[in-house]
Amino acid sequence: MVIHKPLTSAIKVIARGQRLQLSVGGSVARSAVASVAATVIRTTVIRTTAIRTTVIRTTVIRAAYGRPSLAGRLASRHMCPSADAGVPEIPPSPRGVRVQRVVTSGSIRHGSNSVELENNVWLVGDDERCVVIDPGHDGRAIVKSIPVGRRVTAVVSTHGHQDHINAVAQVCDATRAPSYLHPADRMLWDRLYPVTPDKDLADGDVITVGDVDLHVLHTPGHTPGSCCLYAPALQVLFSGDTLFPGGPGATGREFSDFDTIIDSIRTKLFTLPEETVVLPGHGDATVIGAESPHLTEWVERGW
Ligand SMILES: [Fe+2]
Repeated sequence: MVIHKPLTSAIKVIARGQRLQLSVGGSVARSAVASVAATVIRTTVIRTTAIRTTVIRTTVIRAAYGRPSLAGRLASRHMCPSADAGVPEIPPSPRGVRVQRVVTSGSIRHGSNSVELENNVWLVGDDERCVVIDPGHDGRAIVKSIPVGRRVTAVVSTHGHQDHINAVAQVCDATRAPSYLHPADRMLWDRLYPVTPDKDLADGDVITVGDVDLHVLHTPGHTPGSCCLYAPALQVLFSGDTLFPGGPGATGREFSDFDTIIDSIRTKLFTLPEETVVLPGHGDATVIGAESPHLTEWVERGW
């Protein structure tokens, strides 16, 4: 997506407008605005050698911020474990394609509340090129974490929720890379952007980076257009918000459906090799073989 400067400015205005709207509401909204006014953002870059992981930890220091609402806590039950959550070592492909994690944080609107989330942004690439998956919250930090000399060839959103697309414009602007989204999530995208994504994702598509193919699996349920990216060469699945350690992604929100996500997981994900490492949109990694025995349990409990 080519986002020109006037559009970037317009998006900033939209973002400001949303904050202003929040100030009209109750105490949570007021404290959110107060906290933004009193916010100091400190960014720390931590590099580890075990996996080429870069954690951009954006620490938000607030004058005062109340306990998150029940709705917020329920919404984030599967969605925002600690930024230091474990990710196993992912060996690079034969031609040096590796996985890098960037953790960003920020607030999104959830109903009438503001919910704070930490997101995993995944970079997959070698020394020359890379694909960015799910750029959320902080486009500047994401772009800064891309090693110099790497050309971004695609910016892929696994689904259209704000926290997975709200830094697409910044990243595409800075890198001139095209944006990708499944068309069934366009109604979510259109709330944030006045232009369409550059390319549609479809089940069976393949996005190639170096010697690694990212196979697009359409896995509706969390949203109608949710997709996962499966990289057999790395034995990795980028699961977005469809599969987490301990269960499926949340389905209590609009456009979500529990039976549909269970069907997607059963037919598209639990048919992958057991050793496939699952790298979700938030928090910890898991493996397919650790989750698949629990499907019946999840169906019985209903979440
Ligand atoms: Fe989501």
